[in-house]
Amino acid sequence: MIASPLSAGQIEILASHLTISETYFWREPQVFQALEEKVLPELIRTRRNGERRLRIWSAGCATGEEPYSIAIALRRVLPAREGWQVSILATDVNPRILGRAQAGVHSPWSFRNAPAWLKRDYFFPTAGGKFELRPEIRDMVSFAYLNLAEDVYPSVLNSTSAMDIIFCRNVLMYFLPKSARQVIQGFYHCLVEGGWLMVGACELSHQTFDRFRPIQVPGAIIYRKQGGGAWRPAALPPAEPALPEALPAPAWESVAPTPPPAPALAGPPVSAPAAWDQAPPLPGPLVEAESEPAGQDASDASALAIRALANQGRLSEALALCEQAVAADKLDSTLHYLRAAILQELNLAGEAIASLRRALYLEPNLLIAHFALGNLMLRQGDAQAARRCFNNVLGLLSACPQEEVLPEAEGLTVGRFREILQATIQAGGLA
Ligand SMILES: C[S@@+](CC[C@H](N)C(=O)[O-])C[C@H]1O[C@@H](n2cnc3c(N)ncnc32)[C@H](O)[C@@H]1O
Repeated sequence: MIASPLSAGQIEILASHLTISETYFWREPQVFQALEEKVLPELIRTRRNGERRLRIWSAGCATGEEPYSIAIALRRVLPAREGWQVSILATDVNPRILGRAQAGVHSPWSFRNAPAWLKRDYFFPTAGGKFELRPEIRDMVSFAYLNLAEDVYPSVLNSTSAMDIIFCRNVLMYFLPKSARQVIQGFYHCLVEGGWLMVGACELSHQTFDRFRPIQVPGAIIYRKQGGGAWRPAALPPAEPALPEALPAPAWESVAPTPPPAPALAGPPVSAPAAWDQAPPLPGPLVEAESEPAGQDASDASALAIRALANQGRLSEALALCEQAVAADKLDSTLHYLRAAILQELNLAGEAIASLRRALYLEPNLLIAHFALGNLMLRQGDAQAARRCFNNVLGLLSACPQEEVLPEAEGLTVGRFREILQATIQAGGLA
């Protein structure tokens, strides 16, 4: 069992050796049925006329079968993704299996429960008797190291904010109940209003998920962030042509009786350091912020407002506010860093890189910007540049005491950051 009091290092060693990274494609098919027939179509319909953005997180992704199944489902429901910003984040505490996940090559055993079309339509057989995922599906998923027991989420630092759907299946069973509740509390804050949480059948407990509305779907229960409202077939607009053929409407319904909104869970939120969605009420447009004390205070107030907007998934507004703030104070490296974080969320990697370089030009010691740049380079396939950035981070970290809290890193200490960096280097094949 994993409990929070263990150190990060101990948890990782335990996770690597004790937890079973057992996983396979289309695990619990009824959950993927719900994803394809209810959750994704509904999300797509509501987003079609606004910000065309979909954000999904597979937390505890093991060797990648779950996030790749999600990518395949998304591809089936939304074959033409032009104009959409789609992000599927897949995280795990075990850097070794992350490397395998990234490769997208799977043995026949991974398909033991999958429908025949999945392997046939989305994989190529390899000479060694394995199956390689089509690159267009593989590239839909970004893998990253994240320890659910210790890391901060939601955070734009690790792209865990403003999620529409979180899958965390067959992971929480490794946690003590108290830690599991903290993780779920973190997921609650990561989700947008009305967002979905998918957990494994063995982990269902209305008590543990009491801030979520349980929704009965054929053969499974999925959870929805309270306030989003239960699904009502009559209230939905007619299906739009780009969606797949309407499937017979199953009896999706809110599980009765729906638990009343629960008071906040006991204990501090898992994302204790100034969770962005708990920021004070947003100031109005920057014009108002400018009437605040001039200089650094105004920049700080803007940064807080920008973070709060970003964390609620209001990325265009966050970017607009950030652009104004940068225009008002071009020399503030933090604002350039924030701009980069938002651009990255918007899948505008090139602009994000330029913004990070500007931040580093202004503040060469902004460690978090070196780290973000390294991650972006890694995703772009530039291992050499990524290594340079991570070496810069290591150099800067070596000058700091272990317990020091890093600026702009949402409460992360130097020691913890070093562990995350090392896991990232290992998962990225740079070790
Ligand atoms: C049984 S696998 C589940 C894989 C997939 N979600 C599924 O249902 O098929 C459990 C995964 O959880 C990961 N895990 C365990 N503790 C974790 C933690 N503290 N943070 C992140 N991942 C963790 C393990 O490394 C393992 O890959």
